[in-house]
Amino acid sequence: MTTANPSTPVLKAEDLSRHYAVRNGLFRPKGTVRALAGVSFSLPAGRTLAVVGESGCGKSTLARQVTFIESPTAGTIQLDGQPVALHDHAALKQARTQVQIVFQNPYGSLNPRKTVRSTLEEPLIINTRMTTAERRERVDWMMAKVGLRPEHSARYPHMFSGGQRQRIAIARALMLNPRVVVADEPVSALDVSVRAQVLNLLMDLGEEFGVAYLFISHDLSVVRHISDEVMVMYLGRTVEIGPRETLLDTPLHPYTRALIAATPQIEASRRQVRIPLKGELPSPLNPPSGCAFHTRCPHAVARCKAEVPLLRAVAGREVACHLAESLAAEPDTPA
Ligand SMILES: Nc1ncnc2c1ncn2[C@@H]1O[C@H](COP(=O)(O)OP(=O)(O)OP(=O)(O)O)[C@@H](O)[C@H]1O
Ligand code: SF4
Ligand SMILES: [Mg+2]
Repeated sequence: MTTANPSTPVLKAEDLSRHYAVRNGLFRPKGTVRALAGVSFSLPAGRTLAVVGESGCGKSTLARQVTFIESPTAGTIQLDGQPVALHDHAALKQARTQVQIVFQNPYGSLNPRKTVRSTLEEPLIINTRMTTAERRERVDWMMAKVGLRPEHSARYPHMFSGGQRQRIAIARALMLNPRVVVADEPVSALDVSVRAQVLNLLMDLGEEFGVAYLFISHDLSVVRHISDEVMVMYLGRTVEIGPRETLLDTPLHPYTRALIAATPQIEASRRQVRIPLKGELPSPLNPPSGCAFHTRCPHAVARCKAEVPLLRAVAGREVACHLAESLAAEPDTPA
């Protein structure tokens, strides 16, 4: 039973880090990938925070920490204002019912040997005392909610299309009435023709069920449609976070500007930003010193190489750039 104050964020992460020990080769010494290097955010109930950034910037790592699939190396997670005991098995089990996940790949995320009914019933069997009849009714109801025929619940995942499988994954995520759903690129693996339908379904159900979304996407045109707030990540850190309109219409961080410039639909609807994103993403095993973006930033100065910029409030959002104030004063200039 929750006694949450409505102004308390439903999910709050503070300074989350996740490191992975890796070998650089068979005999080379171990290195440490700092996949997540101190990320914080607050997600209000029923709202959508989009997380964007290039492949490898730590989005899925963040998703695994806040869904309690993995334990962060450092940092805290609060649900409805209460810190989650990240090493307490019972507390994690309870927290997992509140924060569910929809993965990118609907082919890999459903057990091929289980019928849809069995997949959807499983969380009810583990976490509730519903009778068989109540579970049957709940599964039928949820199948209909996600646009599938309840009589198809005896089928196996391979008998469905990709879009239908993602509907099943969405149904599974909602079975326990979670407060938060983390959607990790939920439509990227689907045919373009069904993406909009699945996105609309997610958003409609989110509203109906009062779910807050942490919505991970590399597609800014999708983000523009569905998010309330946007967080931009680069090499495991947040570089800019704030209200959607502020971030997408007047981005400050050179990396946010570059991402937007690389998204034609967004560029067409706003003033011209043409900042080329030169070069590859550096290895997270050996990230650049200072501002990790300095190797690709068109504005970099000597200080950028030496000093890590901290997130701070500038012009209605938080941004981690030494030059944020001067960039705020300077309009985006066409190249
Ligand atoms: N289990 C792991 N062991 C070692 N390194 C890992 C592990 N999981 C992730 N990484 C590394 O951490 C970094 C972040 O990976 P992550 O999957 O979170 O990125 P992402 O933003 O989700 O990328 P994508 O857009 O491709 O899904 C990458 O460099 C990745 O190689
Ligand atoms: S701190 Fe420097 S390198 Fe980093 S984004 Fe700002 S200007 Fe570019
Ligand atoms: Mg990912």
